[in-house]
Amino acid sequence: MFLEVKNLCVDLGQFHLTGVNLNLEKNDYMVIIGPTGSGKSVLLETIAGFFQPQTGKIFLEGEDITNLNPEKRGISIVYQDYVLFPNMNVFENIAYGLEKKVKDREVIKSRVYDMADRLKIEHLLDRNPETLSGGEKQRTAIARSLIVEPNILLMDEPFSALDVNTHAYLTELIKKAISDYQTTCIHVSHNFNDVWSLAEQVAVMKNGKILQQGIVADVFSKPCHNFVADFVGVHNIFEGEVVGKSKGITDVKVNQNLILHSSDTDTNDDKKVMVAVRPENIIFSNQSFVSSIRNQLKGIVTDIILIGPTVWVEVDVNGTTFKGIITPSSLDILGIKKEKEIYLSFKSVNVKIIDEEQSYSALFSA
Ligand SMILES: Nc1ncnc2c1ncn2[C@@H]1O[C@H](COP(=O)(O)OP(=O)(O)OP(=O)(O)O)[C@@H](O)[C@H]1O
Ligand SMILES: [Mg+2]
Repeated sequence: MFLEVKNLCVDLGQFHLTGVNLNLEKNDYMVIIGPTGSGKSVLLETIAGFFQPQTGKIFLEGEDITNLNPEKRGISIVYQDYVLFPNMNVFENIAYGLEKKVKDREVIKSRVYDMADRLKIEHLLDRNPETLSGGEKQRTAIARSLIVEPNILLMDEPFSALDVNTHAYLTELIKKAISDYQTTCIHVSHNFNDVWSLAEQVAVMKNGKILQQGIVADVFSKPCHNFVADFVGVHNIFEGEVVGKSKGITDVKVNQNLILHSSDTDTNDDKKVMVAVRPENIIFSNQSFVSSIRNQLKGIVTDIILIGPTVWVEVDVNGTTFKGIITPSSLDILGIKKEKEIYLSFKSVNVKIIDEEQSYSALFSA
């Protein structure tokens, strides 16, 4: 394991990080998400060495760095408010850290130009930071951190002060630069797009704890905690019982009159489980249709909620509420109205089974 955070506890008086465990392989990109005040920044700063943990250990490539000075850890940190040296131009800002490691001016120059080229800031190298836009400043800050080839690059909401277009543009550039430099990265963000477009790993924090860490697709489809499910937008998560298994399909009884069919077969029989269906995987129709889709249910629309450019439709199916998401035009075309009958379909691959043991252990540790 490249970075191993073990049972970390940090006491800041009114706030505590408790029992935090994190594991990252070299070159992994992890995004940490969680509500405001959950301890994301404190965790990054503890890894960087600015807070001393009461208990727990941090290992980097097997070496215990828990008590190592921040400057000896080889960890760079980039903040939201792009801190640059105001008395140095862009070139000097980027070269600053490198000059401590490399003495040859030509090598420094060629590395700075290479990095500036990757982040599309070559034309700005002789400018002063105060003349730059937010996106340009942030690219300079990232260039400066990345060029020293840190063991880990920590980024605390690096894009949150930028507009949507700049954010999208920077995401692409930075993803490529970080991957070319083979840098291990932990990135705190409030933006789910960052998770999908940048990360292999995601960790969800709440109240100073990590509720779940794992591969993005797993955490988003198989949240093992109700809070994580809500936070990552699964919304349909039910308790159930495995009642049958055949030909690669597991049948899970959710209530007396409702059985869902899942392609997850890696479960113990006769066992209580949780099943999760993401709202965007539910297809609405006015009548039942012939198809290979395993789950076709009939229900009654109980609520229609307009949220931005999308519509949430809540449907009661034999006493269980499903939430789906559609566009306003589909809502019109299908004539979906409160109290009307509607059909829901979703594929068995989109019904994820979560072991209850796993989910309950997460619940109790939270
Ligand atoms: N130096 C400190 N001393 C005492 N408490 C602190 C200190 N730094 C942070 N805290 C507290 O720790 C808690 C977690 O703060 P943190 O900044 O890590 O949250 P966050 O998850 O990064 O939130 P946000 O998404 O708003 O940035 C907060 O209640 C904060 O007040
Ligand atoms: Mg923060």
